[in-house]
Amino acid sequence: MKEPVAMIDVVLTGDCMTKLDSVPDSSVDLVYLDPPFFTQKDHKLKTRDRTTEYSFRDIWESQSDYLTFLKDRVAKCREKIGSTGSIFFHCDTSASHHIRCLLDDVFGEDMFRGEIVWFYRRWSNSKRAPLPSHQTIFFYSRTEAYQYHQIFEGYSPTTNVDQILQRRQRDAHGKSVYERDEAGEAVLDGGRRGVPISDVWDIPLLNPKARERVGYPTQKPVLLLERVIELVTSPGDVVLDPFCGSGTTLVAATLLGRRYIGIDNQPEATALALGRLADPVRTSSELLRRGRGAYHQADADSIRLLQEIRTVPVHRNKGIDAVVPTPKGAKPVLVRVQRQNESVLAAAESLSVAGGSKQSAILILVVVDEGCPSRLFHQVPSNVHLVLSTGAAFIQLLRRLEVTVLSRDEANQVEEGVHTIHTVLDSMKESLPYHIPSASFKNLGITKGMKR
Ligand SMILES: C[S@@+](CC[C@H](N)C(=O)[O-])C[C@H]1O[C@@H](n2cnc3c(N)ncnc32)[C@H](O)[C@@H]1O
Repeated sequence: MKEPVAMIDVVLTGDCMTKLDSVPDSSVDLVYLDPPFFTQKDHKLKTRDRTTEYSFRDIWESQSDYLTFLKDRVAKCREKIGSTGSIFFHCDTSASHHIRCLLDDVFGEDMFRGEIVWFYRRWSNSKRAPLPSHQTIFFYSRTEAYQYHQIFEGYSPTTNVDQILQRRQRDAHGKSVYERDEAGEAVLDGGRRGVPISDVWDIPLLNPKARERVGYPTQKPVLLLERVIELVTSPGDVVLDPFCGSGTTLVAATLLGRRYIGIDNQPEATALALGRLADPVRTSSELLRRGRGAYHQADADSIRLLQEIRTVPVHRNKGIDAVVPTPKGAKPVLVRVQRQNESVLAAAESLSVAGGSKQSAILILVVVDEGCPSRLFHQVPSNVHLVLSTGAAFIQLLRRLEVTVLSRDEANQVEEGVHTIHTVLDSMKESLPYHIPSASFKNLGITKGMKR
């Protein structure tokens, strides 16, 4: 059982070994720690305006000194974690091979849940070895009954729409084939939420101009911490970072509605963390938002639009850019965004051809060409619905078609849930700032293609 926490949403200054004494046992849901890595360096960095320099020491007498220091503190952290809680230990190749064994000793080998590789790109020289481009985060749980909230990622570029929409079964030879009903029709499956998150996390390093960058050496991105926190905690849970530095974990916890306890032995670090908490900032990564190499068929504007309307992108099907997440067994809703320099008619034809073979699919073309004469809309294939280039219009259309949609967040959290369209769509609407002003479409509303 988790004990109530007397002291939360605090940042404490001092050695975490002693400061942890003021945290009640079994009271936290997640410990994330990013301690010195045994780099045998002093880490120093100046703020952007060059007025302040932050630093911390990572120089040790010996490796065994370092490991003893860590083991004492990790063992103490373990006492603070409740029965459904977890620990995420961030390290790099300087000592990761020892730290895995240390965590096995403290938590038990059976409590090992994963080794996350945080992968990032950097430009640097590495003469006689591969360029280091990752760090490691070990994930252990306190008990078997740990919280875990699956996160789903987009499909790979080689996944086609059929693989996403249709249920599979094994044939007589054990080969995986698409399931057919008695009439020979493909059987629809859910599975439109993407694939479960892998243990390789491709999250860019903070760029020098990122708003969240505060000039603290080895500052981690809020996005990375948000992912950790979302995976193993719920809103209201308590996140502890005993080596909090500039307070990234605490900022991420706040942004996600979790509570926090931060500790660092440097007063400059805790002051900085408190400053960040007064105005928590997350820098969104354009690279991540778009996905590396994603949307091979769609162009940049289409990508942006599709992401705003929370569809699940698909890559391999000419004519189809995305699938709307709907409950199991519901009709597939397939979307294409009109390209620049592509007529509405050509875009609709392309979607109609690509989507026409998918079992009773609802096909939606997002029209972005403001200058297109509306009479042309009547020539659009009858199985294609047109919608204006705004998220709100898209939602109205889904509502009219009585499509039940799972927003990506909800699809991530709910396994089999069927949501009422109003609740889900209203929550989607709040996250739809995107709008292409479109005078000529003002009165068009939502149009269904007419028979030619
Ligand atoms: C790698 S940095 C953490 C960076 C942090 N994750 C961020 O995003 O800003 C490690 C931190 O551990 C702190 N530290 C080192 N020894 C400590 C100790 N015994 N107790 C508490 N903090 C300590 C250092 O001051 C430093 O801020």
